[in-house]
Amino acid sequence: MRMNSLHRREFLTLTGLAGAGMAGSGLAALALGSTKARAASLPSAPAEGDAHRGPCAIASGNCDPGVAKAYEMVMSGFDPADAVVAAVKFNEDDPNDQSVGLGGLPNEEGIVELDASVMHGPTHKAGSVASIRNIKNPAAVALEVLRKTDHVMIVGEGALKFALRMGFKEENLLTEKSRQAWVQWRANLNKDDKWLDDDQQIQPVGGKKVSAIEKSLMFTWGTVHCSALTPAGDMAACTSTSGLSWKIPGRIGDSPIVGAGMYCDNNVGCAGATGRGESMIVNCGSYAIVQNMERGMTPSEACAAFLNKLCDHTKEKHLRDAKGRPNFNVSVYALRKDGAYGGACIHPGGSYAVADGTAANAKNLRIVACTPLFND
Ligand code: GLY
Repeated sequence: MRMNSLHRREFLTLTGLAGAGMAGSGLAALALGSTKARAASLPSAPAEGDAHRGPCAIASGNCDPGVAKAYEMVMSGFDPADAVVAAVKFNEDDPNDQSVGLGGLPNEEGIVELDASVMHGPTHKAGSVASIRNIKNPAAVALEVLRKTDHVMIVGEGALKFALRMGFKEENLLTEKSRQAWVQWRANLNKDDKWLDDDQQIQPVGGKKVSAIEKSLMFTWGTVHCSALTPAGDMAACTSTSGLSWKIPGRIGDSPIVGAGMYCDNNVGCAGATGRGESMIVNCGSYAIVQNMERGMTPSEACAAFLNKLCDHTKEKHLRDAKGRPNFNVSVYALRKDGAYGGACIHPGGSYAVADGTAANAKNLRIVACTPLFND
C-alpha cells in the first residue's frame, strides 16, 4: 500500500481511527503505539510541522547551516542523497563539533571511530560505514558504498581501505580539545589508579586550566541527522556520528544501522535519530517511525508513539531514573512524503532544524523544539 496512491483520510479509515475522531490527536499515537498509556505525555493537537506541505529539509538542531544547504540543493535539482550528505559534512568538517567527524570524542583508548549511513529513496538503496578511523567524512564514504558497491555496510579496517580506494584522505581526527577531554575523563575514571583526579592535580602557575565543560564531559551520544524531500517527491536520509564518547573500541551505535539511526521509504517518508543509539537499535527506531507514518500517523504522532514504546522497552535498572523513566535522552525526527514533519524527544532539550524556504532570517532555517514525552 503506497502513501502516494492513498490519502491520509483513507489510511485512517482503514486503520479505524478516522471514525473514532482520533485523527491528528495524541490518541492516535496511543492507539497504535505502546500498550502502556502515557496519554498526558503525548501531543494533544497536531504540531505545526504536521501541516507543512512541499519540499523541505529537516535535521537535528545542530545541523546548522547544513540543513539550509540541503534545501538549497534539492531546490536546485540535486539528488536528495547528495543533499543530505552535504548537510552533515558541515558538522563532520567542524573541529569544534565534538560529536561528529573531525574533533569527535574518541573511544576509551583515545582513538576516534566514526559511524554513518545514507539511504536513497528512489532506489531504496543504503550505504553505511561503521567504526571507521582517520576519515573525517564517513557519510560521503557511505554514499560511495551505496553507489559503487552491491553491499550496504562496510566496517573498521575494510571501511578505511574502501575509503582510501575511493580517494578519501587519511588524517588524525583527534583534536587537541578532544584529546584533553579524553585525558581528563581517563584521569577521573578510577579513584585507585595512579592518575590524579581533578581535585588532586597540580595546576602550574599561569598554566592552562581545563575548562568546566571539558571536566563535565562524561558520556555523550552527539550525532547529526538530515532528511530531505525534493520538489519531485523524492527523499533521502543521512546520519553521521563519532558515537558514544569513551566507548569500547569497535562499539557501533545506531547511526550506521539502516532502520535504527535513519531510514527512508520513498513512498512514505524518512526518519532519523540522535541520542542513545543502543535504544534505537533494539527498537528498530527509524523504521518504526516510518511504519507509524505509513499506518496513518502524522510525523509528530509517529515520533511520540515510537518514544512511548521505547520507554516501555527500557527495562534495565541502570537505565531508569527514580520515577522509572529512561535516564537518557533520544531525539527523533520525521519527514513525510508530502512534506509534513515533526520531532520528539524523551526529556526536554532536543531540537530540530527545518529549511523550507520560509525562514525569515539570513540562515534560511528555523530551529524548533522537539516535543518532549516528559516535561521533567
Ligand atoms: N546516536 C549515536 C550513537 O549512539 O552512537
